[in-house]
Amino acid sequence: MPSLESFKRLSKEQAVARVREIKAELGRDLVILGHHYMGDDVIEFADFRGDSLQLAQEASRIAEARYIVFCGVHFMAETADILRQPGQVVVIPDKRAGCLLADMAETPEVRNAWKSLTGLWGNDITPITYVNSTASLKAFCGRNNGIVCTSSNAAEVCRWALQRTKHVLFFPDANLGTNTALSMGIPRQQIMTWDPSRPLGGNPDIDQARFVVWRGFCYVHSHFTPEHVAAIRAKYEGIRIVVHPECSPEVVALSDANGSTSYIIRAVEQAPAGARLAIGTECNLVYRLAAEHPDKLIVPLVDSYCVSMARINLYNLLRSLESIVAGRPVEVVTVSDEIKAEALIALQNMLRLSMPPKSAS
Ligand code: 13P
Ligand code: SF4
Repeated sequence: MPSLESFKRLSKEQAVARVREIKAELGRDLVILGHHYMGDDVIEFADFRGDSLQLAQEASRIAEARYIVFCGVHFMAETADILRQPGQVVVIPDKRAGCLLADMAETPEVRNAWKSLTGLWGNDITPITYVNSTASLKAFCGRNNGIVCTSSNAAEVCRWALQRTKHVLFFPDANLGTNTALSMGIPRQQIMTWDPSRPLGGNPDIDQARFVVWRGFCYVHSHFTPEHVAAIRAKYEGIRIVVHPECSPEVVALSDANGSTSYIIRAVEQAPAGARLAIGTECNLVYRLAAEHPDKLIVPLVDSYCVSMARINLYNLLRSLESIVAGRPVEVVTVSDEIKAEALIALQNMLRLSMPPKSAS
């Protein structure tokens, strides 16, 4: 396979033409999935674009294609590999496209926390992992009667858990966990943050907690502050602020609405002409929305980029496709069978909850 550098020597027009040619050649044997944070040069080739939940649902439904090329970050491609049909191959254009939030909870640390918490509460606790996590942590949840959630179904998943047990351990995103618990009416004093580097997670009174959230965060969303909210409200009178729930509880409380990337897109689409919206999420998505809706004022709360998502570009997408055509796919994402079996339990628990209800016939 030629090096990435040799693909980069092609002009943009040449690379675009070749991607189109390969897509036509592979036809139904290929599906390209794209997360909303992808740049314009990549997202235009996605056969399906979505937020994490929609992409996981779509990956589980792909029946025909032999190859799934995942334009997103590594945990998303891993999830697709867990949910795919036998014989399918999942490829990511750059395996280094990780997620720094997902890296903030390691399995041995979570096992230690679990040991302490089950020591306090026995089986009366459910582990919930945000989908932004390693496959190994999804397997941990599958093994311990737990579940996966995404930003679009976190409240539904937490309700499911709290109907089964009194306590929840939520990892790795403290903001999503806290925002979800607060939105469900759980009092602040029953929500505690677990710091893996300190005994009892840094909470001597941990036994009072109902909702234990891991001390992880996304730097892209933690970048937004209450001062940014105040500044944008002062600059644009009457502006509506919509943010992702990975933002801090303080920012979420000062905003008008929060939700997943697909929720944010719908909020923009449904706003009337002339509306003004400030968006607190990754900038590629915000600037695309602004370009697609020239009749509305769409601005970022402030610029904030995800360097991991930006690793996927037109040229490494082309390299992935050429490697498939050559019969030797590169950057294949493979989760071991052992991890896959247990992770699937936790993912299926989530997918069962989030399936649209069957229409009455
Ligand atoms: P969504 O599931 O809302 O698309 O979020 C994914 C993500 O990584 C947000 O930072
Ligand atoms: Fe991970 Fe944050 Fe990037 Fe989303 S925006 S992929 S949570 S680092």
